Amino acid sequence: MVGSARKFGTTKGNPVALDDTVRQHKFVLDESQIPTTWYNVIPDLPSPPPPPLHPGTLEPVGPDDLAPLFPMDLILQEVSADRYIDIPGGVLDAYRHWRPSPLFRAHRLEQALGTPARIYYKYEGVSPAGSHKPNTAVPQAYYNAKAGVTKLTTETGAGQWGTALAYACSLYGLECEVWQVGASYDQKPYRRIMMEVFGGTVHRSPSPETASGRAALAQNADHPGSLGIAISEAVEVAAAHPEYRYALGSVLNHVLLHQTVIGEEAILQLRMAGEGGPDLLVGCTGGGSNFGGLSFPFLREKLAGTMNPVIRAVEPASCPSLTRGLYAYDFGDTAGLTPLVKMHTLGHDFIPDPIHAGGLRYHGMAPLISHIYELGLMEAIAIPQIECFNAAILFARSEGIVPAPEPTHAIAAAIREALACKEAGEEKVILTALCGHGHLDLAAYDSFLSGSMRDEDVTDERFAAALDTVPAVSKVG
Ligand SMILES: Cc1ncc(COP(=O)(O)O)c(C=O)c1O
Repeated sequence: MVGSARKFGTTKGNPVALDDTVRQHKFVLDESQIPTTWYNVIPDLPSPPPPPLHPGTLEPVGPDDLAPLFPMDLILQEVSADRYIDIPGGVLDAYRHWRPSPLFRAHRLEQALGTPARIYYKYEGVSPAGSHKPNTAVPQAYYNAKAGVTKLTTETGAGQWGTALAYACSLYGLECEVWQVGASYDQKPYRRIMMEVFGGTVHRSPSPETASGRAALAQNADHPGSLGIAISEAVEVAAAHPEYRYALGSVLNHVLLHQTVIGEEAILQLRMAGEGGPDLLVGCTGGGSNFGGLSFPFLREKLAGTMNPVIRAVEPASCPSLTRGLYAYDFGDTAGLTPLVKMHTLGHDFIPDPIHAGGLRYHGMAPLISHIYELGLMEAIAIPQIECFNAAILFARSEGIVPAPEPTHAIAAAIREALACKEAGEEKVILTALCGHGHLDLAAYDSFLSGSMRDEDVTDERFAAALDTVPAVSKVG
């Protein structure tokens, strides 16, 4: 299907835009109101998520199994049962460069839609990398530097995470080596340059540098890559060098933990805006970190009975792990180098179509999000990319921010709900995560505006073939 660029992409002729009323658009906290602890949702859940398993023994992995990849401070956070974990001063100081991030009321978007809903967005594009990713890149680099590590390796999809880690490594004097998914590397040359500006070294993945990369290239010399393959490459290099460690930009408990500063700030900011809480919270999910970061503090309030938001994840229709995947033990990477984690997965061999939201092209989902979904504490929907870009164009033309392709999914879902409110005459409060700007993703907008963007239908047969690669343990687990 070819993109229809002007479905609801205009604010022309909207008489309310000429109204002289001056309103509050931004809700801004003082630096002293940055949260000083991260919130760990696990102790508040009715049951803990199933543990990661060692692929050889099928026993739960212990701290020693993870030590070749992560420093002990992060391993302890990964398995922590504490509700709150102190943010170290060296991290808080760095956070102050861009935190607290603003919460916006989308007055002009509401007007363009003619909805009685009140739409708020928490904007993480003000960070040095332009997204939420530095919220975890900074503490990860900090703890690794403290442990004497000399280099961090990582994967990146859209390039946002790689940029964030390269920036964080530059703060603490670490080297940074990044494997960027081939499709994104080709689509987004400026992201590679930005990583290099921060001192990172970037490879197109699959790369000839690693055994996993060479195996993928042997299958297809023009391989578009996937996050699963890029993770295998970065893990392989880190595991082979005692002074290197690996850093992951999503999926793991400690990554979601670091992102909870987003939701903690948003709770204070909604209060400033005079709202009791959101009726609906929507965020996009690749591996689940921006969504978990915004939603977990609200989930805490929901479980405590002080708020009652519907919490809804939005994934791309071409990579729908929550809505069409299997809840099973699977590898986090393609080559099978990581522990087995219980998550919604499309199969670790699944290569998603090269859609523009590179950060959402991951075969799995954070085990914590998967568990919360299974507990029925949240919902999930999948939206095709053309609807997302239609929504993003209207958002840009009314709010003046060009969203990264990933949060266009959250915006599309917020708009769906706002239009339903219009239909029903309901005044819901909708909170969404605008987790990054799209200034380096303009090729995606070009593809949409020129009408060349496509929505590919993923057939059941293709999903079924990928699910066959899920290890047998999962099918009973
Ligand atoms: C701007 C942006 N949003 C969202 C994502 C998806 O990741 P997560 O689900 O962990 O937030 C990415 C990943 O690269 C991203 O760059």
